[in-house]
Amino acid sequence: MKVQVAIIGAGPAGLLLGQLLHKAGVEAIIVEARSPDYVLGRIRAGVLEQVAVDLLDAAGVGARMHAEGLPHRGFSLLIDGARRRIDLHGLTGGKQVMVYGQTELTRDLMDARQNAGLPTVYEASKVSVHDFDTGHPRVRYEKDGAAHEIECDFIAGCDGFHGVCRASVPKSAITHFERVYPFGWLGLLSETPPVSDELLYVKHQRGFALCSMRSHTRSRYYLQCALSESVEQWSDERFWDELRRRLDAQTAASLVTGAAIEKSIAPLRSFVAEPLRFGRLFLAGDAAHIVPPTGAKGLNLAASDVRYLSRALIDFYAGSNEGIDRYSERCLKRIWKAERFSWSMTMLLHRFPETNAFDQKALEAELDYLVHSVAGQTTIAENYVGLPFTD
Ligand code: APR
Ligand code: PHB
Repeated sequence: MKVQVAIIGAGPAGLLLGQLLHKAGVEAIIVEARSPDYVLGRIRAGVLEQVAVDLLDAAGVGARMHAEGLPHRGFSLLIDGARRRIDLHGLTGGKQVMVYGQTELTRDLMDARQNAGLPTVYEASKVSVHDFDTGHPRVRYEKDGAAHEIECDFIAGCDGFHGVCRASVPKSAITHFERVYPFGWLGLLSETPPVSDELLYVKHQRGFALCSMRSHTRSRYYLQCALSESVEQWSDERFWDELRRRLDAQTAASLVTGAAIEKSIAPLRSFVAEPLRFGRLFLAGDAAHIVPPTGAKGLNLAASDVRYLSRALIDFYAGSNEGIDRYSERCLKRIWKAERFSWSMTMLLHRFPETNAFDQKALEAELDYLVHSVAGQTTIAENYVGLPFTD
């Protein structure tokens, strides 16, 4: 088979890239290791920056997001029992975010691709990438026991942190920057009304908590927990009791609890690979970087990479190499700003029992300054809604 672009991975990055390329007349196939149900079953984040909203509209898949998504003009920080609202709309000249679950966004993209009759190979095994340092890269995979090969012009590595694309780059050609955090997030999804109209990020002596949502009837909560803990140790009752203990009395009293639809523990890490281009292979999304979810940047960074990569590939077929030549440089400038914000929010809001006492006091003073100064709140707000594109 021959195609212009072979996309590895049918998560948000791969599906969005495929849709934007299709809209511009660039043909692409997506090769995905898992089944559609498995991809949809991964419960992930739910806050979209305007850049992600705009890209979904450009891809022609924004209708349900606008119908069912929740525009949010602010969020709050609950710091040792004191609540402070960050007025996103007021501090950023009218910007806001959209609360819309990644599962729903992925479903919209999958439906659009299927309705357009575009090729997607699910449950592909033994996926491998070859000759991306030449002008004729190839992708090999097996499906139902039969071996297949795709000849293409470009390979888009949208296969996530554990994918095959980054792993196929010679170690001498790539640099990893990484920080692993000494705790995880225990997440719970419940068919209960959210405890707060806007997101509530909680800093407490017992640990971080986050009160989020998927709709007016479906809530998403997180608790900082030790990496040694397992989901089996956390009954629903234990989860709700611990969440109440980290909330202020009024919020705790209004919490509506219910059975967990989903419950899981995710580790937290900051990770960036440099560069993001290797001849005809490009990395995008979680294949290129990971952020701790404290800044709600994971999905938005994937969208940002795809904005650059889709334009670069479309421009290539229109006769310009400028986009592919500057892809890595442009993406990394934006990636590192989002990495910094996510790292900072994680350091400021979580409990680090092993941290040097001075450093902990300095972090507390920094948070106190940020939430009590317009300049500080503006910094948080500008980064949370998404920094403007400069090119
Ligand atoms: N071959 C084919 N597909 C693969 C392979 C492989 N060797 N390895 C992984 N995949 C698939 C995974 O099954 C997954 O569906 O690649 C996809 C990668 O999707 P994501 O991990 O969702 O990454 P991305 O599309 O970059 O989206 C980033 O999604 O995971 C969240 O927190 C993350 O919000 C961020 C966003
Ligand atoms: C979520 O709703 O899953 C969510 C929201 C904001 C975050 C992280 C996760 O920062």
